[in-house]
Amino acid sequence: MRVGFGNDHVAIELKNILMGHLREKGYECIDFGPTDPADKVNYPEPGRLVAEALMRGEIDKGVLICGTGIGISLAANKVPGIRAAVCSEPYSAKLTVEHNNANIIAMGARVVGPELAKMIVDEFFGAEFEGGRHAVRVDMISEIEAKYGAKWHE
Ligand code: RB5
Repeated sequence: MRVGFGNDHVAIELKNILMGHLREKGYECIDFGPTDPADKVNYPEPGRLVAEALMRGEIDKGVLICGTGIGISLAANKVPGIRAAVCSEPYSAKLTVEHNNANIIAMGARVVGPELAKMIVDEFFGAEFEGGRHAVRVDMISEIEAKYGAKWHE
């Protein structure tokens, strides 16, 4: 599985820890940056880069991290077909895949510590979409996108 990572300047350390964690488990991790803490990067840019790579099929899932996880997920969710979920604990990380078919997990580097963050990504990547009644609801989200002219659907 190819996992794209994006972050802003406050989240470089946690990003590196999580990439190392997932690489040890055999995931291919692609870093969309930034990598230099001196690089002040506004969170919408890495959010967009990872979301667009996902929609182009260049990666299979994404991990986005900023201070809270909120700003970067809001940006990613503007790309049609993206379902980026901010999670601060493992239960939501599992359920957002099983029920929402989330394709990006977002976290706050100022909210979760490294060990909790590892548990969160482990649940996210270990879960599978359940389909059925949940697919009906996820389709309804796509219909909202389509209503407003978004074209990029799975
Ligand atoms: C940066 O200071 C901070 O605003 C950003 O990392 C994030 O928390 C925004 O949602």
